[in-house]
Amino acid sequence: MKILVTGAAGYIGSHTLVELANAGYEFVVYDNLSNSSKESINRVSKIIGKDILFEQGDIRDTKRVQEVFEKYDIDWVIHFAGLKAVGESVEKPLEYYDNNVIGTIRLLEVMKEYNCKKIVFSSSATVYDEKSPYNYTPLRETDPTGDTTNPYGTSKYMIERILNDLYISDNEFKIVILRYFNPVGAYESGTIGEDPSGVPNNLMPYISQTAVGKREFLSVFGDDYDTKDGTGVRDYIHVVDLADAHVKAIDYINSDKFNANISIFNIGTGFGYSVLKMIKAYERASNKQVPYKIVPRRSGDIAVCYADSSLAKEVLGWEATRDLEAMCRDSWKWQSNNPDGYKEKKCNNAKK
Ligand code: NAD
Ligand code: UFG
Repeated sequence: MKILVTGAAGYIGSHTLVELANAGYEFVVYDNLSNSSKESINRVSKIIGKDILFEQGDIRDTKRVQEVFEKYDIDWVIHFAGLKAVGESVEKPLEYYDNNVIGTIRLLEVMKEYNCKKIVFSSSATVYDEKSPYNYTPLRETDPTGDTTNPYGTSKYMIERILNDLYISDNEFKIVILRYFNPVGAYESGTIGEDPSGVPNNLMPYISQTAVGKREFLSVFGDDYDTKDGTGVRDYIHVVDLADAHVKAIDYINSDKFNANISIFNIGTGFGYSVLKMIKAYERASNKQVPYKIVPRRSGDIAVCYADSSLAKEVLGWEATRDLEAMCRDSWKWQSNNPDGYKEKKCNNAKK
């Protein structure tokens, strides 16, 4: 029995493959490579020491997904495939709803057709109501959701609702929804990592590209928030810890403990770090300067967002174990060894 892992050529999926292999699970990767390269799969293959079953295709292509279900004995799906850039989703809402929401519906239809009823879904902290984080308390799974600020967040919220309704219609479905906070870092070998196309939107890849000399300076979006140093605070989580949460979710689905009423989990560390703290930590880890300028706030940003992940600890037996130093160290190892991501080989002048 295999796990179909959609979107596994991407950042979080590729790291999850390593943890799945370590735990002895077998899998097939399904990805249209719209935001990734096959090279990530080759590198994962080297890490785990075996070939990976890879099928290129789009989750919206029902015929292609059916072919994959015909070819392999698929028992679970881990569903990472989706578009994820918040700003882009505001400009291209139809593409986001089509890819993320319609794509998930098409995938679920085929799963149902083949009687495959176990799924782990990548959701996001962006589903929480905008007002909740202003409470400056850790977010809990029971906090209000749905008052989202952009089509990306709305697409994740819609999918959560669809999964919930699917379960109501068919109790055989076993569904786990993981709400990720801010994934950063890379596998400790530095051979796989985050490879954003074009100019990074997110803080950590922007910091790492500045440290390696690809960007002149980092723009810090606002220093007038109601936080200790005035910059935004987020719950950064090491991508390997996040990957491990998926293994724990699959274990949970398989166990007698599985309870459909407890199937949404926050996946964060419970600690919030400001933008300036992140810059300092990265400078220490890389031994490089990260020049920055304070610029106006980015629209749609909130001041503080961090997780209460105690439910994941209690039910899944999962908790984050890697600290900020490890996040920055591993990110730097990946960035300095692969300044152009998966496109080029090593850069000699970058510090190893
Ligand atoms: P990513 O872009 O690196 O990976 C997503 C993968 O999905 C890519 O390889 C892409 O080619 C593939 N894909 C996209 N649309 C597809 C389609 N229609 N058919 C087949 N493949 C398709 O992103 P990531 O950071 O690894 O994120 C994985 C998942 O986690 C996404 O669903 C994302 O929304 C969610 N998530 C990410 C973050 C984050 O900050 N990285 C935070 C919360 C949630
Ligand atoms: N920031 C900067 N400069 C930058 C980029 C970011 O100062 O160049 C700041 C932001 O203002 C924010 C913090 O760094 O205070 C983190 O910003 P990110 O863009 O890295 O992350 P967000 O919290 O805005 O959003 C991310 C992902 C979403 C995901 C969400 C919660 O982009 O997809 O985390 O998981 F849903």
